[in-house]
Amino acid sequence: MIMHLMKLGVMASINQRLDYETLQAISNQFGFEAVRKLTLEEQILQDEPDDATNLLSRSPVITIMGHVDHGKTSLLDAIRQSNVMDTEAGQITQHIGAYHVELESGSVVFLDTPGHAAFTAMRARGAQVTDIVVLVVAADDGVMPQTVEALNHAKAAGVPILVVLNKMDVESARPDHVKRQLAEYDLVPEEWGGQTIFVEISAKERIGIEELLEMLLLEAELLELSANPNKPARGTVAEAKLDKGRGPVATVLVQNGTLRVGDVFVAGRYNGKVRAMINDRGHHVKNAPPSTPVEVLGFTGVPEAGDQFFVVGSERDAKALSEFRQAQHRATQLGPQSRVSIQEGDIKE
Ligand code: GTP
Ligand code: MG
Repeated sequence: MIMHLMKLGVMASINQRLDYETLQAISNQFGFEAVRKLTLEEQILQDEPDDATNLLSRSPVITIMGHVDHGKTSLLDAIRQSNVMDTEAGQITQHIGAYHVELESGSVVFLDTPGHAAFTAMRARGAQVTDIVVLVVAADDGVMPQTVEALNHAKAAGVPILVVLNKMDVESARPDHVKRQLAEYDLVPEEWGGQTIFVEISAKERIGIEELLEMLLLEAELLELSANPNKPARGTVAEAKLDKGRGPVATVLVQNGTLRVGDVFVAGRYNGKVRAMINDRGHHVKNAPPSTPVEVLGFTGVPEAGDQFFVVGSERDAKALSEFRQAQHRATQLGPQSRVSIQEGDIKE
């Protein structure tokens, strides 16, 4: 074996650990097939691919991005006002960092990220939560540094961008100039033969909001977003905090499956059991289907934005996995000079 390894350019000693690809190559030469053993994590989190017959369409999840003062918050406010549900009882939408808007023709979920930092942090952790990015550009100000930053983030994540030219009510609005600027970043409007949808609005005067929402639904239709509501939930933590009275609380976006009160879960280094769920209207709910943002109570600790959230079969599995992850986390906290290396076998079940 050592000789074969040498031929592959690997100078191995007798008790060396080999990576899977090398092992595969070596075992093939001896007529064996190497089969990778699932890690504890993989065993617990195994997910059967969804059969097309189990998939139902789901609402798109949208993130609004753009330069400072270009009108992101104003746009969200305007959108909230076109929410048919908000006309009932005049309730104030509880701020849970995400909310959904019901329209005649469908519903849309908005992730109210406080900024690009959150988006970047989530993406760095491998969290892909957004289906479409709405890039807000003030028509009187044009492309600014954070506009470029935002469009680069969206492109890197492979997320379609819909451009909103805001502040069209302002005298000095120059939409064509902004379109030319954006065309330099490959965001070419459809009317110029490009592929990018541009919607001209005034968040302040509430002009063009309905059209924007319709465009988002159209764009979402093209993406054929779907999920299987009939299985244990998976999602992503959008934000989390320690609440004085209620303990750790996290806003979770359910992306697949249905989350139910009583479900046992793992999120990042922590586990828990769903004690209560509160939706974006501040109402307690018993279950949350795909593309639903909910506030979840029942965590053993405060997870981080971008942590994956998984429902698991048993409390024992949930505990074992979170203990393993915490041990791993402690080891990395000790720094690279530390000799501690955590192997799965180190954790007693
Ligand atoms: P940050 O959160 O600081 O990045 O800003 P933002 O992008 O959320 O912008 P915000 O909605 O706070 O709007 C900034 C300013 O622009 C406010 O004074 C708004 O009233 C104003 N504004 C937003 N939309 C419009 C619009 O359509 N027309 C006009 N005239 N003013 C607008
Ligand atoms: Mg704002």
